[in-house]
Amino acid sequence: MQIHDKNFEIFITADEIQSTIKKLAGLINLDYSDKELVLVIILKGAFIFAADLVRSLNFQSQIELLSAKSYGKEITSSGNVEISLPNLNIKGKHVLIIEDIVDTGLTLSSVKSALNKFGPLSIEITTLISKPAMRKIEIDVKYIGIEIPPVFIVGFGLDYAEHGRNLPDIYAITS
Ligand code: XMP
Ligand code: MG
Repeated sequence: MQIHDKNFEIFITADEIQSTIKKLAGLINLDYSDKELVLVIILKGAFIFAADLVRSLNFQSQIELLSAKSYGKEITSSGNVEISLPNLNIKGKHVLIIEDIVDTGLTLSSVKSALNKFGPLSIEITTLISKPAMRKIEIDVKYIGIEIPPVFIVGFGLDYAEHGRNLPDIYAITS
């Protein structure tokens, strides 16, 4: 498959993604069923993962959206993170950040310190995908779906130059 000038092949199937999300939801349900939780979804990439995840959660929660953009080359993370932060009502509440992919960790580290200023009770993170070999900053991600090697991927919310987010499977770049 081609998107813009690059070629991609299938890497993680829609079925594998869905069973991963069910597993994550199971763990989150166990940990938060008796707590008041705010789910903070990081746009744009996490919108599809979050839509599936929240429908498998069996407790009541507040949902907030936050947009984070890391500027730079299209297939590498620049570490230059711009967060658009609304005035979030998370003081004294447990927060779970929902992210599509953790690469260098710089985006989530900025998001976490921005959210901490509002005085939440706790902040944890769930991500569908993690690339542990790419970390530049240590970040504690409590619920990780699938760990992958450092390859650029698209689909299921993830884009290459804003294309490919709608694909139900995840594809990896080949050339
Ligand atoms: P950092 O490096 O801050 O990166 O942890 C997180 C953000 O970088 C983007 N990213 C990707 N986007 N395919 C994508 O479509 C990838 O393989 C990829 N790796 C990192 C993504 O926006 C994420 O939120
Ligand atoms: Mg992107």
